[in-house]
Amino acid sequence: MTHLDSTAPTGTDPARTRLPGGSSLLSGLPGRQGFGDASLIRVGTGSIDLGGGNPDRSLLPVDLYREAVHELMDSPGYGARLGYVPAAGTPSFRALLAEREGVSPERIIVTSGGINGLALAVLGTLDPGDTIVVDDPIFPLFLRVLDLVPGVRVVPVGVQADGLDVDELESHLAAGVRPQAVFTVPTFHNPGGAVLSAQKAQRLTELAERWGFTVFADDPYRELAFPGAEVPAAAWVRDSEHVIGVNTFSKTLGPALRLGYNVVPSALAEQYVKLRNRLDGQASGVLQDIVERIVGRPEYAQANAAAGAVYAQKARALHGALHRELPGELDIIEPQGGFFLWARFRDQEADFAALFDAAQDEGLVYQRGEWFGVTPTGGAGGASGAASAAGAASAAGAAGDAVGAANAAGPVGDAAGAAGQSIGGDPSRTRGAVRLTFAQLDVPSLEEGAARLGRAWRRIHG
Ligand SMILES: Cc1ncc(COP(=O)(O)O)c(C=O)c1O
Repeated sequence: MTHLDSTAPTGTDPARTRLPGGSSLLSGLPGRQGFGDASLIRVGTGSIDLGGGNPDRSLLPVDLYREAVHELMDSPGYGARLGYVPAAGTPSFRALLAEREGVSPERIIVTSGGINGLALAVLGTLDPGDTIVVDDPIFPLFLRVLDLVPGVRVVPVGVQADGLDVDELESHLAAGVRPQAVFTVPTFHNPGGAVLSAQKAQRLTELAERWGFTVFADDPYRELAFPGAEVPAAAWVRDSEHVIGVNTFSKTLGPALRLGYNVVPSALAEQYVKLRNRLDGQASGVLQDIVERIVGRPEYAQANAAAGAVYAQKARALHGALHRELPGELDIIEPQGGFFLWARFRDQEADFAALFDAAQDEGLVYQRGEWFGVTPTGGAGGASGAASAAGAASAAGAAGDAVGAANAAGPVGDAAGAAGQSIGGDPSRTRGAVRLTFAQLDVPSLEEGAARLGRAWRRIHG
């Protein structure tokens, strides 16, 4: 997305917005936004934080780590393994990942985690001024990755219980929108919990092949299914040259690890290796050796299944507590896996900024649904034109009312054809919603969190 100095007048040369010594990109990176803006969050002593994205540390396979590290470091050839490794990843790790994915090893590019993989996909797919269709609600950090390419126009599309609304995407295509890429989280959607059905995945790849766009399938939660949950096979990533799979070990082995991998189209694989090389050379060879030893063992899948079962209990406990504490007030999407519960207050007229404040007074932190909306940027064809609207949107976000900014979006047709101009998401998809992380905390804390949300709601709602 285009984000330059919000004080720049519309239509000025983007170069004029540069900070001394800084590039336009560096100078223009936006600061405060709803999601991840620490200044909006008050975590005091005794606060219950349901806002994060960390796994439960007690469920991480620490023993597998320990054994893998010892085995590696005690091996006679360890010193020889400390040299540079190929940009795309060590051959044996790529081979293992390729086998898991059912693709040829050439299509595997090892990354330094999910965001790094998304950056690779964005830089390898989008040019300035291109259009991308994204989930609405969206994983907001993807929008920040888009800041790497100036003037990308963002078109939001709704997400239903069975994933991205492919009908809505088709209607945009019919209306003349020509995306270069579509971004979606197919499994246990962040924030909404949806799982893309096999039928929709097939339709999406058919559309991608017909219209020539690339689907970014950002899939960090796939391995954390609850017992009995149906997760359609990820064959669509394997079978189509129009899908890039973005994977990370952050949710199963811990986000501090910083390791993941992309599955890229075979026709572009060689170029992606060159791009990977130019970003940060290569992912750590030592970490690849360690994770290869973990992921190659059956105990890794067992640990994930066991974690999924505990996460299921926690999600059920939170779900039940919300029903008890806020009877009849919420529409709750029952998670089938992953880390998040998405719930919306039925009374859409309430003051949700005040609710967030009251919750923090009660000692509860969560993510406001509005922060997962796509805020519009304006400005026909110009980077700095878009900047003023982006500034307005982020100011509205900082004031706790991103929905107000989203409301300012024009209809889809108004936005078509203007490079850098992004339409806002549908505010009704995010207004009055809360994203609550059940993964990290224990059941009593989750239940207390629900009680605090109930008290906060009664404070503002009577
Ligand atoms: C949907 C989604 N994509 C990507 C990421 C980022 O993954 P990583 O921490 O490996 O960069 C996350 C982390 O929360 C996520 O939820």
